[in-house]
Amino acid sequence: MGLFTKLTAKISSHAHAQRANRASKKHKKHSHRAEYLLSKDTPFDVTEAFRNLKASLSVSVPKKEHGVSIMVTSAYPEDGKTTVTTNLALMFAQSDAKVILVDADIRKGRIAKYFKRKSSPGLSDCLSGQNSLDDVIHHSHINENLSYITCGTHSPRPYELLESEEMKKLIQELCQRFDYVIIDTPPVLLISDALALAPSTDGGVLVCRHQVSYISDIERAINTLKFAKVNLLGIVVNDYKAPKVSAYGGYKKYYYYNSYGYGYGSTNPEDTDTAEETPATPQNATEEQN
Ligand SMILES: Nc1ncnc2c1ncn2[C@@H]1O[C@H](COP(=O)(O)OP(=O)(O)O)[C@@H](O)[C@H]1O
Ligand SMILES: [Mg+2]
Repeated sequence: MGLFTKLTAKISSHAHAQRANRASKKHKKHSHRAEYLLSKDTPFDVTEAFRNLKASLSVSVPKKEHGVSIMVTSAYPEDGKTTVTTNLALMFAQSDAKVILVDADIRKGRIAKYFKRKSSPGLSDCLSGQNSLDDVIHHSHINENLSYITCGTHSPRPYELLESEEMKKLIQELCQRFDYVIIDTPPVLLISDALALAPSTDGGVLVCRHQVSYISDIERAINTLKFAKVNLLGIVVNDYKAPKVSAYGGYKKYYYYNSYGYGYGSTNPEDTDTAEETPATPQNATEEQN
């Protein structure tokens, strides 16, 4: 996947301490996490980056008679997995594919927030037999082609649920009903949950965050995924900051990059399903960055 490789090369490995410092300051500044969804007000380069990602993925996944399943993960929390996964699903839905977004982060899933509902019942409840698949599939108000499954009730054994036969059958069933099954997962270098999905999915995408992710962590994450036999389709560099153009620099090259250039979010551990949040708009998000 040429574009992703090119972008990967843009992550520089210097000044880690400075970045970590800057990132943590920004985390402290914002007391809540935000959910950014593509809309008509989203800057052109951001929409274009997601369109590009969608186009690259649709030619990279192995062709099948039915729908395909793609899991999205990253090395650590806060890299932007959920942001990228949700918007990728929306982008597929906008191109007339039938899409289901599945929150497989049973420990800390946040997809419910994007659709302003509670996490339960959801995936874990369906896998543990408490609810039927139809009980947990919701149709999104954002796009008629987009459905979603929230993470469900907290479970003491998420890994076991995700590697179960029930999970395999669930993904197969979703592939019969939808063109794309897009799955958000927890970070691979912290917990193994995402790896449990390797045998059930057609491919995986690794997200890293520009000027935050360490090259060494990205490499470890790639190796971990490869070792677990995840069919790694590509790497997304989230939150890419395009270099400044010189006075004589000619045109801006923004839309060559897979950037999603809003400000950094919060890591508030108190963040719960019931916490009140200021609704985020692309405008106020952009202001945060200035
Ligand atoms: N490109 C981006 N620009 C601005 N904020 C972002 C971007 N990507 C993610 N965020 C914010 O960073 C925080 C973590 O993102 P999230 O997608 O939840 O990460 P993860 O799922 O990897 O933990 C959220 O508050 C989110 O809104
Ligand atoms: Mg997440």
